[in-house]
Amino acid sequence: MTEHVIVTDAGGIRTIRMNRPDKKNALTFAMYDAITDALESASGSDAVRCVLIAGVPGAFTAGNDLADFLKAAETEGALSRPAARFLPALVRCSKPMVAAVSGVAVGVGTTMLFHCDFVVAGTDAYFSTPFVGLGLVPEAGSSLLAPRLMGQRRAFEFLVMGHPLNATHAKEFGIVNMVVAPQDVDAEALKAAREIAALPAGAVAHSRALMRGSPDEVLTRIDQETKIFGERLQSPEAKAAFEAFFARKR
Ligand code: COA
Repeated sequence: MTEHVIVTDAGGIRTIRMNRPDKKNALTFAMYDAITDALESASGSDAVRCVLIAGVPGAFTAGNDLADFLKAAETEGALSRPAARFLPALVRCSKPMVAAVSGVAVGVGTTMLFHCDFVVAGTDAYFSTPFVGLGLVPEAGSSLLAPRLMGQRRAFEFLVMGHPLNATHAKEFGIVNMVVAPQDVDAEALKAAREIAALPAGAVAHSRALMRGSPDEVLTRIDQETKIFGERLQSPEAKAAFEAFFARKR
């Protein structure tokens, strides 16, 4: 249990809100576990017809907590368990997922969006995947899904060169469905979730499963990425990058 993730159910919609504003919603192990539990139980619940993933004003999430990455850089296997549960739960979630993105969506904050079905972004949204600059590699199936969504060259610029995207470009590249004023993000995402929840649930589930195809290809890619990511975490390049982040304000 953590107070940094708030899960609520209303009108067939499960809202999973990341809520660690002082750290821009950087994801701790406990937060991954709470989100995973909420996704898994949503999949098994007839009452839940749509999942809404949200953050706080100014922060969807700044990605994995870099303090945990630093620990993982020093302790073999330290990262494996929570992310190893979270990513398959995201891929296997049987309910449509809507995301409400205000502010920063960094690392997994962006790559989790490749698994969502409908994404609302604020004009303040900032999408960034600084994996390579941190000595890491793209994760969460993004090495497969981003080139498909954006095209190879745009995906290279985004995932490898680490050039961030604003909301307008993210919409142009197919990462988000609609861009609204920051204060309207939650309401518009809820409106979309309600629209989906009001559709015949069986028809939605079948349509979605047909469109997504077998999860095996994505899960296999995640396994491949995770193996290399784990090795990269232990690299001197990565450790130096994490230390530089925490030293930047000193
Ligand atoms: N892990 C741990 N702490 C983080 C964090 C992360 N991923 N992202 C932000 N924080 C913390 C900062 O250390 C800071 O804490 P402090 O107030 O105790 O110093 C607080 O959140 C606010 O962040 P700050 O950098 O001051 O806000 P900003 O608006 O200037 O910048 C970001 C926001 C997200 C652009 C910037 O914090 C950032 O680049 N974070 C790292 C993102 C990242 O690399 N994630 C991993 C991707 S694989």
